Amino acid sequence: MTDSYVPTREDHFSFGIWTVGWQGTDVFGTAVRPPMPADRAVRKLAELGAYGVNFHDNDVFDFGASAADRDERIAAFRKALDETGLVVTTATTNLFWHPMFKDGAFTANEREVRRFALAKVMRNLDLAAELGARVYVFWGGREGAEHGASKDIRVALDRYAEGLNLLTQYVLDQGYQIRFAVEPKPNEPRGDILLPTVGHALAFINSLEHPQLVGVNPEVGHEEMSGLNYAHGIAQALWHGKLFHIDLNGQHGPRYDQDLRFGAGNVRGAFWVVDTLLAGGYSGPVHFDYKPPRTEDDDGVWASAAACMRNYLILREKVRAFRADPEVAEALRAARAPELAAPTLAPGETWRDVRDVTVDADALGRRGMGYEHLDQLAMEHLYGVR
Ligand code: GCO
Ligand code: MN
Ligand code: MN
Repeated sequence: MTDSYVPTREDHFSFGIWTVGWQGTDVFGTAVRPPMPADRAVRKLAELGAYGVNFHDNDVFDFGASAADRDERIAAFRKALDETGLVVTTATTNLFWHPMFKDGAFTANEREVRRFALAKVMRNLDLAAELGARVYVFWGGREGAEHGASKDIRVALDRYAEGLNLLTQYVLDQGYQIRFAVEPKPNEPRGDILLPTVGHALAFINSLEHPQLVGVNPEVGHEEMSGLNYAHGIAQALWHGKLFHIDLNGQHGPRYDQDLRFGAGNVRGAFWVVDTLLAGGYSGPVHFDYKPPRTEDDDGVWASAAACMRNYLILREKVRAFRADPEVAEALRAARAPELAAPTLAPGETWRDVRDVTVDADALGRRGMGYEHLDQLAMEHLYGVR
């Protein structure tokens, strides 16, 4: 039997180095796996059929590494990239691990912390540009608060905007072909994080000095932690022209950030995520940000990474079959789905033309929409019986 779920470079699958490199350290337990050098992650991901990688500065070299150490680690990373042909699609900064970032980075109350955070980002932007990254992610995991009076949120947003304004100016001045993607998350590690959802981030971006350079990087689990519909979130980001990047993974509803492999967790949601990406013409990297569970050894790490890509390909096939199914086309017509594309006013009409519209309200109220039949067809494609 030929397997049609084998990833190719054309699928543009990419992984954060920190995903497969996660050692399993959590709040209740120590590491369960040895450290994974970035170059090993690159080689293994290439073997599995990935196209690219994303990295934090400190996935490649340690915080506080000497210049010689840093150069050595970057050289090994670069050698693995050259030898495998894997692309650096994206980069980001670790602004959360070191204790100095306990109160945030761009929004830390202490000015010294903020100035150092900006320097850390600029240094890694230089590396990102050198390695060819086109997107730079801002996940402000520590930009938040637990104590009501500890931080004036309006002032913190001033500092957040100041930081992003400075960094967009830096990219422009350096001539880097890099755009920024803000990654929302409602909580964890902070009790409440700033820019908690896609909607908050989109609104914030509009108040920046160079909004055209800033989009979003929504993560499945982060929206679902808030009980939100991720497919709707990325659809709106696409509508705004702001879906610069995605973090695909899995989550079982509102609870801690599970970072399950893509396709695990909310399977039905994952189907609509793939449908939305295909329909919306998303062309960025299909990026996975998940954590191989602590139960897994090295083999389990690679099994879970391969599964992220395989699940995407399986869902893509099912979504395409759903969209190509003539019975689905008929059900969509019955549900009047295509009618939504017709503007409510005809060309040349104004409010005057609808001000006094009358309808048969009772007849409209009686009419069923047929959505259950339509949705059941989707589920049957997903369940594999069609
Ligand atoms: C999370 C986040 C992080 C960020 C990553 C980039 O699971 O809370 O997704 O994984 O994406 O660290 O800075
Ligand atoms: Mn997450
Ligand atoms: Mn993420």
